[in-house]
Amino acid sequence: MDKKKIVFSGVQPSGNLHLGNYLGALKNFVSLQKDMECIYCVVDLHAITVFQKPNELKNNILETTACFLASGLDDSKSIIFNQSSVSGHSELAWILNCVSRVGWLNRMTQFKDKAGSDKEKASVGLYIYPNLMAADILLYKATHVPVGADQKQHLELSRDIAQKFNKDFNCKDFFPLPEPLISKNISRVMSLRDGTKKMSKSEESDYSRINLKDNADEIQKKIKKAKSDSDVIPDNLKALEKKPEALNLLNIYSEISHIKLEKVLSEMSGKDYSHLKEKLTDLLIDEICPVGKEIKKLMDDKTHLLKILKKGTEKAKIKAEENLNIIREKVGLV
Ligand code: TRP
Repeated sequence: MDKKKIVFSGVQPSGNLHLGNYLGALKNFVSLQKDMECIYCVVDLHAITVFQKPNELKNNILETTACFLASGLDDSKSIIFNQSSVSGHSELAWILNCVSRVGWLNRMTQFKDKAGSDKEKASVGLYIYPNLMAADILLYKATHVPVGADQKQHLELSRDIAQKFNKDFNCKDFFPLPEPLISKNISRVMSLRDGTKKMSKSEESDYSRINLKDNADEIQKKIKKAKSDSDVIPDNLKALEKKPEALNLLNIYSEISHIKLEKVLSEMSGKDYSHLKEKLTDLLIDEICPVGKEIKKLMDDKTHLLKILKKGTEKAKIKAEENLNIIREKVGLV
Protein backbone atom coordinates (compact mmCIF):
# COMPACT_ATOMS: atom_id res chain seq x y z
CA MET A 1 0.00 0.00 0.00
CA ASP A 2 1.18 3.48 -0.81
CA LYS A 3 2.09 5.04 2.53
CA LYS A 4 2.93 8.47 1.20
CA LYS A 5 1.61 11.30 3.33
CA ILE A 6 -0.37 13.94 1.51
CA VAL A 7 -1.73 16.99 3.30
CA PHE A 8 -4.81 18.82 2.02
CA SER A 9 -6.61 21.74 3.54
CA GLY A 10 -9.05 24.38 2.38
CA VAL A 11 -9.77 27.91 3.51
CA GLN A 12 -12.88 29.79 2.49
CA PRO A 13 -12.20 33.03 0.66
CA SER A 14 -13.42 35.57 3.13
CA GLY A 15 -11.80 38.93 3.26
CA ASN A 16 -10.20 39.96 6.46
CA LEU A 17 -8.41 36.94 7.83
CA HIS A 18 -7.48 37.45 11.48
CA LEU A 19 -5.17 36.26 14.23
CA GLY A 20 -7.35 33.19 14.83
CA ASN A 21 -6.90 32.05 11.22
CA TYR A 22 -3.21 32.85 11.40
CA LEU A 23 -2.35 31.00 14.61
CA GLY A 24 -4.87 28.21 14.14
CA ALA A 25 -4.49 27.40 10.45
CA LEU A 26 -1.93 29.31 8.43
CA LYS A 27 1.08 28.87 10.71
CA ASN A 28 0.28 25.20 10.94
CA PHE A 29 0.11 24.93 7.15
CA VAL A 30 3.51 26.57 6.89
CA SER A 31 5.17 24.15 9.29
CA LEU A 32 3.68 21.13 7.49
CA GLN A 33 5.04 22.16 4.11
CA LYS A 34 8.58 21.56 5.36
CA ASP A 35 8.40 17.81 5.24
CA MET A 36 5.18 16.71 3.60
CA GLU A 37 3.55 17.08 0.24
CA CYS A 38 0.96 19.81 0.83
CA ILE A 39 -1.98 21.03 -1.18
CA TYR A 40 -3.68 24.22 0.02
CA CYS A 41 -6.87 25.32 -1.63
CA VAL A 42 -8.92 28.49 -1.58
CA VAL A 43 -12.35 26.87 -1.50
CA ASP A 44 -14.42 29.27 -3.57
CA LEU A 45 -17.09 26.68 -4.39
CA HIS A 46 -17.72 26.28 -0.68
CA ALA A 47 -18.07 30.03 -0.31
CA ILE A 48 -20.94 30.27 -2.81
CA THR A 49 -23.11 27.94 -0.73
CA VAL A 50 -24.24 31.26 0.73
CA PHE A 51 -24.66 34.18 -1.66
CA GLN A 52 -21.50 36.15 -2.41
CA LYS A 53 -21.35 39.39 -4.34
CA PRO A 54 -19.32 38.44 -7.45
CA ASN A 55 -16.86 41.31 -7.23
CA GLU A 56 -16.25 40.73 -3.55
CA LEU A 57 -15.77 37.01 -4.10
CA LYS A 58 -13.17 37.65 -6.77
CA ASN A 59 -11.28 40.00 -4.51
CA ASN A 60 -11.54 37.65 -1.54
CA ILE A 61 -10.12 34.71 -3.52
CA LEU A 62 -7.06 36.80 -4.30
CA GLU A 63 -6.80 38.19 -0.80
CA THR A 64 -6.92 34.73 0.76
CA THR A 65 -4.18 33.65 -1.64
CA ALA A 66 -2.20 36.71 -0.55
CA CYS A 67 -2.72 35.71 3.11
CA PHE A 68 -1.39 32.22 2.36
CA LEU A 69 1.76 33.64 0.81
CA ALA A 70 2.26 36.44 3.32
CA SER A 71 2.04 33.91 6.16
CA GLY A 72 4.90 31.93 4.67
CA LEU A 73 3.38 29.39 2.32
CA ASP A 74 5.78 28.83 -0.52
CA ASP A 75 4.29 28.08 -3.91
CA SER A 76 7.40 26.19 -4.94
CA LYS A 77 6.95 23.80 -1.98
CA SER A 78 3.15 23.56 -1.71
CA ILE A 79 0.43 23.49 -4.33
CA ILE A 80 -1.64 26.65 -3.91
CA PHE A 81 -4.75 27.07 -6.05
CA ASN A 82 -8.45 27.83 -6.03
CA GLN A 83 -11.00 25.05 -6.03
CA SER A 84 -13.23 26.12 -8.92
CA SER A 85 -10.32 26.12 -11.36
CA VAL A 86 -9.93 22.34 -11.04
CA SER A 87 -13.23 20.92 -12.27
CA GLY A 88 -12.43 17.53 -10.75
CA HIS A 89 -13.67 18.83 -7.40
CA SER A 90 -17.18 19.26 -8.76
CA GLU A 91 -17.09 16.03 -10.69
CA LEU A 92 -15.97 13.93 -7.75
CA ALA A 93 -18.42 15.78 -5.51
CA TRP A 94 -21.25 14.55 -7.73
CA ILE A 95 -20.04 10.97 -7.59
CA LEU A 96 -19.72 11.24 -3.82
CA ASN A 97 -23.21 12.78 -3.57
CA CYS A 98 -24.31 9.37 -4.79
CA VAL A 99 -22.21 7.52 -2.20
CA SER A 100 -23.00 9.72 0.80
CA ARG A 101 -26.32 9.15 2.62
CA VAL A 102 -29.07 11.65 3.46
CA GLY A 103 -29.06 10.31 7.01
CA TRP A 104 -25.38 11.14 7.36
CA LEU A 105 -25.84 14.71 6.16
CA ASN A 106 -28.82 15.18 8.46
CA ARG A 107 -26.51 14.73 11.41
CA MET A 108 -24.16 17.57 10.43
CA THR A 109 -24.35 20.18 13.16
CA GLN A 110 -22.73 22.94 11.11
CA PHE A 111 -25.58 22.83 8.60
CA LYS A 112 -28.05 23.20 11.42
CA ASP A 113 -26.13 26.21 12.76
CA LYS A 114 -25.59 27.85 9.41
CA ALA A 115 -29.06 27.25 8.00
CA GLY A 116 -30.63 28.76 11.09
CA SER A 117 -34.29 28.44 11.89
CA ASP A 118 -35.59 28.33 8.32
CA LYS A 119 -33.86 25.31 6.80
CA GLU A 120 -36.21 25.26 3.80
CA LYS A 121 -34.59 28.45 2.60
CA ALA A 122 -30.97 27.26 2.81
CA SER A 123 -29.30 26.45 -0.51
CA VAL A 124 -29.03 22.80 -1.50
CA GLY A 125 -25.31 23.50 -1.82
CA LEU A 126 -25.06 24.35 1.87
CA TYR A 127 -26.69 21.02 2.71
CA ILE A 128 -24.33 18.92 0.58
CA TYR A 129 -21.27 21.05 1.39
CA PRO A 130 -19.67 18.23 3.44
CA ASN A 131 -19.75 15.96 0.36
CA LEU A 132 -17.82 18.59 -1.60
CA MET A 133 -15.33 18.77 1.24
CA ALA A 134 -14.90 15.00 1.06
CA ALA A 135 -14.31 15.35 -2.69
CA ASP A 136 -11.63 18.00 -2.10
CA ILE A 137 -9.73 15.65 0.15
CA LEU A 138 -10.26 12.36 -1.67
CA LEU A 139 -9.53 13.82 -5.11
CA TYR A 140 -5.88 13.96 -4.07
CA LYS A 141 -6.05 10.86 -1.84
CA ALA A 142 -4.97 13.11 1.00
CA THR A 143 -3.97 11.32 4.20
CA HIS A 144 -3.76 14.27 6.60
CA VAL A 145 -6.09 17.23 6.91
CA PRO A 146 -5.22 20.14 9.20
CA VAL A 147 -8.50 21.66 10.37
CA GLY A 148 -10.06 23.37 13.33
CA ALA A 149 -12.09 21.34 15.80
CA ASP A 150 -15.29 22.67 14.21
CA GLN A 151 -14.52 20.63 11.07
CA LYS A 152 -14.03 17.33 12.85
CA GLN A 153 -17.50 16.07 12.07
CA HIS A 154 -17.10 16.88 8.38
CA LEU A 155 -13.83 15.00 8.33
CA GLU A 156 -15.44 11.96 9.93
CA LEU A 157 -18.04 12.09 7.18
CA SER A 158 -15.22 12.14 4.60
CA ARG A 159 -13.87 8.97 6.18
CA ASP A 160 -17.31 7.33 6.06
CA ILE A 161 -17.68 8.27 2.42
CA ALA A 162 -14.20 6.96 1.59
CA GLN A 163 -14.96 3.71 3.37
CA LYS A 164 -18.29 3.23 1.64
CA PHE A 165 -16.76 3.97 -1.76
CA ASN A 166 -13.98 1.44 -1.13
CA LYS A 167 -16.57 -1.15 -0.12
CA ASP A 168 -19.21 -0.44 -2.80
CA PHE A 169 -16.68 -0.54 -5.59
CA ASN A 170 -14.72 -3.37 -4.14
CA CYS A 171 -11.43 -1.53 -3.89
CA LYS A 172 -10.13 -1.94 -0.37
CA ASP A 173 -7.70 0.84 0.62
CA PHE A 174 -8.26 2.78 -2.61
CA PHE A 175 -9.15 5.99 -0.80
CA PRO A 176 -7.04 6.37 2.31
CA LEU A 177 -9.10 7.34 5.36
CA PRO A 178 -8.00 10.93 5.95
CA GLU A 179 -6.74 11.75 9.42
CA PRO A 180 -7.55 15.09 11.01
CA LEU A 181 -4.68 17.19 12.29
CA ILE A 182 -6.76 19.17 14.74
CA SER A 183 -5.26 22.45 15.69
CA LYS A 184 -5.79 23.24 19.34
CA ASN A 185 -5.10 26.88 18.72
CA ILE A 186 -7.95 27.59 16.37
CA SER A 187 -10.45 27.21 19.15
CA ARG A 188 -8.04 28.78 21.60
CA VAL A 189 -7.90 32.20 19.95
CA MET A 190 -11.01 33.80 21.36
CA SER A 191 -12.76 37.14 20.90
CA LEU A 192 -11.00 39.99 22.70
CA ARG A 193 -14.36 41.08 24.06
CA ASP A 194 -15.89 37.76 25.04
CA GLY A 195 -13.47 35.00 25.92
CA THR A 196 -16.12 32.31 25.50
CA LYS A 197 -16.56 33.00 21.78
CA LYS A 198 -14.11 32.20 19.00
CA MET A 199 -12.37 35.15 17.36
CA SER A 200 -14.45 35.63 14.24
CA LYS A 201 -14.74 37.93 11.30
CA SER A 202 -18.48 37.99 11.74
CA GLU A 203 -18.49 39.47 15.25
CA GLU A 204 -19.79 42.99 14.90
CA SER A 205 -17.14 44.87 16.82
CA ASP A 206 -13.76 45.14 15.14
CA TYR A 207 -12.30 45.42 18.65
CA SER A 208 -13.04 41.73 19.11
CA ARG A 209 -10.26 40.66 16.75
CA ILE A 210 -6.80 41.43 15.43
CA ASN A 211 -6.98 41.47 11.64
CA LEU A 212 -3.89 40.51 9.68
CA LYS A 213 -4.12 43.89 7.95
CA ASP A 214 -4.31 45.95 11.15
CA ASN A 215 -1.57 48.55 11.58
CA ALA A 216 0.49 49.02 14.73
CA ASP A 217 -1.84 51.70 16.04
CA GLU A 218 -4.93 49.54 15.65
CA ILE A 219 -3.22 46.57 17.29
CA GLN A 220 -2.18 48.70 20.22
CA LYS A 221 -5.67 50.15 20.70
CA LYS A 222 -7.35 46.77 20.45
CA ILE A 223 -5.08 45.09 22.98
CA LYS A 224 -5.39 48.06 25.31
CA LYS A 225 -9.17 47.84 25.16
CA ALA A 226 -9.29 44.04 25.33
CA LYS A 227 -11.15 42.66 28.30
CA SER A 228 -8.78 41.19 30.91
CA ASP A 229 -9.05 41.09 34.70
CA SER A 230 -8.78 43.53 37.57
CA ASP A 231 -6.81 41.02 39.67
CA VAL A 232 -3.10 40.54 39.11
CA ILE A 233 -1.86 37.69 36.91
CA PRO A 234 -2.07 34.45 38.94
CA ASP A 235 0.65 31.83 39.19
CA ASN A 236 -1.50 28.88 38.20
CA LEU A 237 -3.90 27.87 35.45
CA LYS A 238 -6.68 26.88 37.79
CA ALA A 239 -7.13 30.49 38.90
CA LEU A 240 -7.93 31.37 35.27
CA GLU A 241 -10.79 28.91 34.92
CA LYS A 242 -13.50 31.54 35.22
CA LYS A 243 -11.50 34.26 33.47
CA PRO A 244 -11.66 33.35 29.80
CA GLU A 245 -10.57 36.80 28.52
CA ALA A 246 -7.46 36.84 30.70
CA LEU A 247 -6.65 33.27 29.70
CA ASN A 248 -7.08 34.19 26.04
CA LEU A 249 -4.56 37.02 26.21
CA LEU A 250 -2.09 34.78 28.01
CA ASN A 251 -2.63 32.01 25.43
CA ILE A 252 -2.02 34.36 22.53
CA TYR A 253 1.13 35.62 24.23
CA SER A 254 2.33 32.07 24.86
CA GLU A 255 1.63 31.06 21.27
CA ILE A 256 3.47 33.97 19.67
CA SER A 257 6.40 34.02 22.07
CA HIS A 258 6.76 30.20 21.97
CA ILE A 259 6.92 30.24 25.78
CA LYS A 260 4.80 27.59 27.50
CA LEU A 261 1.76 28.98 29.29
CA GLU A 262 2.94 27.67 32.67
CA LYS A 263 6.23 29.48 32.21
CA VAL A 264 4.49 32.70 31.18
CA LEU A 265 2.48 32.50 34.39
CA SER A 266 5.51 31.91 36.56
CA GLU A 267 7.28 34.85 34.94
CA MET A 268 4.37 37.25 35.13
CA SER A 269 2.48 36.25 38.26
CA GLY A 270 1.74 39.14 40.59
CA LYS A 271 1.93 41.71 37.81
CA ASP A 272 -0.98 43.69 36.37
CA TYR A 273 -2.49 42.70 33.06
CA SER A 274 -1.24 46.00 31.66
CA HIS A 275 2.25 44.49 31.82
CA LEU A 276 1.14 41.50 29.73
CA LYS A 277 -0.71 43.78 27.34
CA GLU A 278 2.36 45.91 26.67
CA LYS A 279 4.52 42.90 25.92
CA LEU A 280 1.79 41.28 23.85
CA THR A 281 1.30 44.45 21.82
CA ASP A 282 5.00 44.56 20.93
CA LEU A 283 5.04 40.91 19.92
CA LEU A 284 1.88 41.23 17.85
CA ILE A 285 3.17 44.29 16.05
CA ASP A 286 6.40 42.44 15.22
CA GLU A 287 4.60 39.34 14.03
CA ILE A 288 1.44 40.63 12.36
CA CYS A 289 2.39 43.97 10.80
CA PRO A 290 4.91 42.49 8.35
CA VAL A 291 2.28 39.93 7.31
CA GLY A 292 -0.30 42.70 6.79
CA LYS A 293 2.13 44.78 4.79
CA GLU A 294 2.97 41.80 2.62
CA ILE A 295 -0.73 41.09 2.02
CA LYS A 296 -1.24 44.68 0.87
CA LYS A 297 1.83 44.54 -1.34
CA LEU A 298 0.68 41.29 -2.94
CA MET A 299 -2.80 42.72 -3.49
CA ASP A 300 -1.25 45.58 -5.46
CA ASP A 301 -0.17 43.11 -8.10
CA LYS A 302 -3.18 40.94 -8.84
CA THR A 303 -1.66 39.64 -12.06
CA HIS A 304 1.11 38.07 -10.02
CA LEU A 305 -1.40 36.43 -7.66
CA LEU A 306 -3.40 35.11 -10.60
CA LYS A 307 -0.20 33.66 -12.04
CA ILE A 308 0.56 31.84 -8.81
CA LEU A 309 -2.96 30.39 -8.73
CA LYS A 310 -2.64 29.33 -12.35
CA LYS A 311 0.61 27.54 -11.67
CA GLY A 312 -0.93 25.75 -8.68
CA THR A 313 -4.00 24.86 -10.73
CA GLU A 314 -1.87 23.20 -13.37
CA LYS A 315 -0.10 21.05 -10.79
CA ALA A 316 -3.34 20.18 -8.99
CA LYS A 317 -5.09 19.28 -12.26
CA ILE A 318 -2.48 16.67 -13.14
CA LYS A 319 -2.97 14.88 -9.82
CA ALA A 320 -6.73 15.27 -9.92
CA GLU A 321 -7.08 13.90 -13.45
CA GLU A 322 -4.87 10.95 -12.69
CA ASN A 323 -7.03 9.93 -9.76
CA LEU A 324 -10.31 10.79 -11.46
CA ASN A 325 -9.55 8.52 -14.40
CA ILE A 326 -9.25 5.61 -12.01
CA ILE A 327 -12.34 6.70 -10.06
CA ARG A 328 -14.45 6.92 -13.22
CA GLU A 329 -13.33 3.46 -14.19
CA LYS A 330 -14.13 2.03 -10.76
CA VAL A 331 -17.62 3.52 -10.90
CA GLY A 332 -18.16 2.16 -14.40
CA LEU A 333 -18.34 5.45 -16.26
CA VAL A 334 -17.02 5.27 -19.83
N1 TRP B 1 -15.11 23.42 5.45
C1 TRP B 1 -13.84 24.02 5.76
C2 TRP B 1 -14.07 25.27 6.64
O1 TRP B 1 -15.08 25.90 6.55
C3 TRP B 1 -13.09 24.44 4.54
C4 TRP B 1 -12.77 23.27 3.67
C5 TRP B 1 -13.35 22.96 2.48
C6 TRP B 1 -11.82 22.26 3.95
N2 TRP B 1 -12.79 21.85 1.96
C7 TRP B 1 -11.85 21.39 2.84
C8 TRP B 1 -10.94 22.04 5.01
C9 TRP B 1 -11.04 20.26 2.79
C10 TRP B 1 -10.13 20.90 4.97
C11 TRP B 1 -10.19 20.03 3.86
O2 TRP B 1 -13.20 25.62 7.40
